[in-house]
Amino acid sequence: MACSATLQKSGNPREGATASSSFADNFDLITVMHTVLDGLIIVDGDGLIQMFNPAAERIFGFTPDEVMGKSVKMLMPEPYHGRHDGYMHRYMETGEAKVIGIGREVLGRRKDGDIFPMDLGINEMQMRGKRMFVGTIRDISKRKESEEKIKQYVAALQRSNQELDSFAYVCSHDLQEPLRMILNFTERLEHHLGASLDPKAQHYMRYVTGSAARARDLIRDMLSLARIDQQSEAEQNVATEEVLTEVLLDLAALIEEHEAQISSEPLPEIHVQPTHMRQLLQNLIANALKFCTAKPCIHIAAVKDGSRWQFSVRDNGIGIAPEHLPKLFQIFQRLHHREDYPGTGIGLAVCKKIVQKYGGAIWVESLPNKGSTFFFTLPVASITSLSEAA
Ligand SMILES: Nc1ncnc2c1ncn2[C@@H]1O[C@H](COP(=O)(O)OP(=O)(O)O)[C@@H](O)[C@H]1O
Ligand SMILES: [Mg+2]
Repeated sequence: MACSATLQKSGNPREGATASSSFADNFDLITVMHTVLDGLIIVDGDGLIQMFNPAAERIFGFTPDEVMGKSVKMLMPEPYHGRHDGYMHRYMETGEAKVIGIGREVLGRRKDGDIFPMDLGINEMQMRGKRMFVGTIRDISKRKESEEKIKQYVAALQRSNQELDSFAYVCSHDLQEPLRMILNFTERLEHHLGASLDPKAQHYMRYVTGSAARARDLIRDMLSLARIDQQSEAEQNVATEEVLTEVLLDLAALIEEHEAQISSEPLPEIHVQPTHMRQLLQNLIANALKFCTAKPCIHIAAVKDGSRWQFSVRDNGIGIAPEHLPKLFQIFQRLHHREDYPGTGIGLAVCKKIVQKYGGAIWVESLPNKGSTFFFTLPVASITSLSEAA
């Protein structure tokens, strides 16, 4: 092979370098070069090919005879082909390197004209007093193809997720209006017919109004789930202490009805869309008030965990059996009959979608009849906005 003649004599690949002569004596470097899976090419200071190993033959499709003594540019497509001479010249004059000694991902050209991505590593060496360059080449077209496929799948998945989200949003948004009408007019009808309805008709009427109200609640909760991804508000530093006060005001009637005791520790600022923090506390505290038999005692706290705050909402309610925990945050997962505890089964799915939007997590620790503690993590307040506010 053309490469053997050139290299056999220079057993030590770097004259004056530290490789010992016993190394060269004990190892047949030509066999090594013939065996390695990566393409190896040696070019001289004029960019002319001096060695081309079998792996390089396989990669580029040229035999050594076809490339030996020719410019290495023949293995490069544009723009590398056009830039090569200038680059080499500048390197030889100034030592300014963009690839030599560094390595990078570039394009190569095979004999049949096919252009392919490759990892190229080049280094300079002294061989019998001459500046020479050794290049290692790894064909990465298969890896690139799979990366490209993954990118396409991810893009298709994102598209279909977005489509689903906007479908859910439009559906729930547009369904609100006709539902409002049904509810409104059945109530009027009930009022209008009043006592003239016989018991059976009153019973049917209650079914109609009850179902319409349930559909309204479902649509309302579906809409709040679909809205999470509609960037309606800017993310900002939010004082969760204030959000908690507002949420407790909203839930005042329920708190009073259940004679609930609510306590909290000092709460931090976090960096989110304000509505999201509100929805989180609203859903978790409403659940804590709802899923109880005795007077609810609810405690809200937060501890710092690196770049996140870990919030907790603890209750003394009915608790959750361990077998129900894995699916608890899935949409429409309810563990009770509507007659016992009303609801739509969307609240915890909303909470999960919100925390995941910020790269956080939500989980629960619970014992039946002892109570539950829901934990969730959110990013700490951004320092820039804090100093701007100061
Ligand atoms: N604090 C809690 N204590 C006991 N069970 C709970 C608690 N929070 C949620 N759950 C259970 O998780 C289910 C899902 O909660 P959620 O998504 O908020 O739906 P909803 O409140 O509409 O029923 C509830 O139906 C209930 O069975
Ligand atoms: Mg709920």
